[in-house]
Amino acid sequence: MNMMTGTTPDTYLRIKGAGKTYPSQHGPVVALSDINLDVRPGEFLSIVGPSGCGKSTLLKCLAGLEDITSGGITVSGKPLAGPPDRMGVVFQRDVLLDWRTILDNVLLQAEFLGHPREQYRDRALQLLERFGLKGYEKRHPWELSGGMRQRASICRALLCDPDLLLMDEPFGALDAMTRDDLNVELARMWQETSKTVIFITHSISEAVFLADRVVMMSRGPGRIVDVFDVDLPRPRPLSVRESDAFGVYAQRIRHHFAELGVLKE
Ligand SMILES: Nc1ncnc2c1ncn2[C@@H]1O[C@H](COP(=O)(O)OP(=O)(O)O)[C@@H](O)[C@H]1O
Ligand SMILES: [Mg+2]
Repeated sequence: MNMMTGTTPDTYLRIKGAGKTYPSQHGPVVALSDINLDVRPGEFLSIVGPSGCGKSTLLKCLAGLEDITSGGITVSGKPLAGPPDRMGVVFQRDVLLDWRTILDNVLLQAEFLGHPREQYRDRALQLLERFGLKGYEKRHPWELSGGMRQRASICRALLCDPDLLLMDEPFGALDAMTRDDLNVELARMWQETSKTVIFITHSISEAVFLADRVVMMSRGPGRIVDVFDVDLPRPRPLSVRESDAFGVYAQRIRHHFAELGVLKE
């Protein structure tokens, strides 16, 4: 335990009593209430919850794009101030620039962080190859399928080798088969590196398939209602989803959401 920060070496990111209230014309909207969560270094954490429960708000606060209105967030024991520089973000809608090639879109991350582009060119090409986009470097986003665009967005987020990868329903708009492919590719990337991943989804099966730990959120106001470990061996083939052990985890989430009136059982 570090007496100065109150964190143990097992805590990378600490969210303590965090709340977020948005002002609005119809009165304040409490998007997050008393969120407490310690994220371990290198863990894959899924956050699952229904629409409107504050998932994106939480992610934006972690990304330093929004400020929490109560409580605190620390990264490696230091209060979060603005976007952490060792972080990459992937959103549901890829934010690729249509007038730039795929390679130049990936290199954008280096430009954002003020690094010389040329230094990252080889790494960008390697990442694109790694995510199945070799041969598409000079194409433009509008020439690619949704899945390929999201692969490019992941390459961009990974370009500067972040410690923390924040993903907000990155595969939510993709067809089921492409989504399966990307789940497997993301899990493989995560196993090969030591990144901490916070992955938001409203798919119960995606949450369980990917995670070391699942955080369940509910709304009214947005809060954490359950946190549990997923003890399934890795690497996980897609067929693990048909196993009894997987079914138990998925059922736990479904049952809890049903109790909360979020899902019908
Ligand atoms: N900029 C904003 N201003 C006012 N209310 C907002 C804003 N962003 C989100 N909200 C509200 O906060 C709640 C949580 O939204 P959000 O974080 O987007 O949920 P989720 O990502 O889980 O669907 C919702 O009630 C939403 O309407
Ligand atoms: Mg959202």
